[in-house]
Amino acid sequence: MRAYGADMRAQSEDTPGVATAPFATSVGSVRSHRVFATCYDRMNAAAERTFLGRRRAALLGGLTGTVLDVGAGTGANLPHLRSAERVVAVEPDPAMRQRLERRAAESTISVEVSAASADALPFDDASVDAVVFTLVLCTVGDPNAALAEARRVLRDDGTLAVLEHVRGTGRLARFQDAITPVWKVVGAGCHPNRDTLTTLRGLGDFAIHDVDEFRELPRWFPASPMLQLTARPTR
Ligand SMILES: C[S@@+](CC[C@H](N)C(=O)[O-])C[C@H]1O[C@@H](n2cnc3c(N)ncnc32)[C@H](O)[C@@H]1O
Repeated sequence: MRAYGADMRAQSEDTPGVATAPFATSVGSVRSHRVFATCYDRMNAAAERTFLGRRRAALLGGLTGTVLDVGAGTGANLPHLRSAERVVAVEPDPAMRQRLERRAAESTISVEVSAASADALPFDDASVDAVVFTLVLCTVGDPNAALAEARRVLRDDGTLAVLEHVRGTGRLARFQDAITPVWKVVGAGCHPNRDTLTTLRGLGDFAIHDVDEFRELPRWFPASPMLQLTARPTR
């Protein structure tokens, strides 16, 4: 894990021994998506300006203590985690993590970067105050395992914060199913057809609050509708 603070800055090299190649490559269990990582912030810029930034701010601005940002990508959440005492940003993709490390080094809050995977978090039980998933549960290999790990590391009075694009209904859902094989390739593993709310409810580990399913993107767009919620552990 790399820490960024006054005395430990700008360690931006990739994980030793892990090659970053064009498009996607697998090295061990780590996939590197160099082109996706290069384009990611530019691809999202309009959405961040029009609604995503505002959503991130509302969801994350009140989180305090130790906040675990799972699948932190290029670090888009960092500017919004203003009240956190410490952020642990988990990102297994070396190409994304390289950008994350740059952003972490510039952050005014304490940020540690980890290359761990959502389904095997190297953190103690009940050790964090909040777990954040933004645009990640569509991509992780096993959303059930990722959410179970989130519950394990979260304190009993902790907060789960989720902002995801999810499965639609009717024709949109059928379109999402049809396009998923291609979307996964261009979207670095993203599944536009995941019913994340049903997955979360099915686990039974969280009491869900403040659910907001919304559409800011065109109705036909596969990465729509979106879901914003907070939840607390039930057991
Ligand atoms: C679409 S990006 C979202 C990045 C960021 N959370 C955001 O809101 O912009 C999805 C991220 O999930 C990461 N990811 C994929 N599989 C993962 C896993 N098993 N554990 C943790 N992160 C993962 C990807 O590397 C990628 O950076």
